[in-house]
Amino acid sequence: MLAWYDVHARVLPWRSPPGTPPPEPYRVWLSEVMLQQTTVATVAPRFAAFLARWPTVEALAAADDADVMREWAGLGYYARARNMLAAARAVVAAGGFPREAAGLRALPGVGDYTAAAVAAIAFGERALVLDGNVERVVARLAAVDAPLPAARTRLRAALDPQTPADRPGDFAQAMMDLGATVCTPRAPRCDLCPLAQGCVAHALGRETDFPVKAAK
Ligand code: ADE
Repeated sequence: MLAWYDVHARVLPWRSPPGTPPPEPYRVWLSEVMLQQTTVATVAPRFAAFLARWPTVEALAAADDADVMREWAGLGYYARARNMLAAARAVVAAGGFPREAAGLRALPGVGDYTAAAVAAIAFGERALVLDGNVERVVARLAAVDAPLPAARTRLRAALDPQTPADRPGDFAQAMMDLGATVCTPRAPRCDLCPLAQGCVAHALGRETDFPVKAAK
């Protein structure tokens, strides 16, 4: 996956190039909060504008609440912006970002996914980063035949041995990119996939049967 990422990583404004030192935790956290409910294409320009206005967590902590809400306009889910301000103030009061997923998880607006993503990408923690795209990739790799959310325990168990101690942040983003560009919901490009050889769904010719949909 890392070799694939070195060649195919999407160039996105919150990332460092593959294999280079990680971006500032503030950038990673800000991007992951924006990406919680908003697409990559929408977030990219808004991330840049937000960062130009509040370049550090200290600047954001000192921001006027109404200014932040106005800058957030159009991204939706305004609770995210309110939680973000509260988190920025907590981070500054604590003297910096928590460096581990467990500590990050305690910040307002930071759930399991966001805590794991920031810990892996900003701090190199071998955290399991499971977003919607990665869930699909892993469900196919291991042919997990239970619907979400019940399947999540098995998805984590299947992702764990794949997740490397070296470059876990690049690995996480490689899995996201694979899900977004190759292991797509309807017409996966298994011919381009670095994991096809070990993919159980592919061996069965049943890629699009996974992840299993819950019965209605
Ligand atoms: N979606 C959520 N986090 C992401 C990231 N770091 N890169 C690309 N897509 C994402």
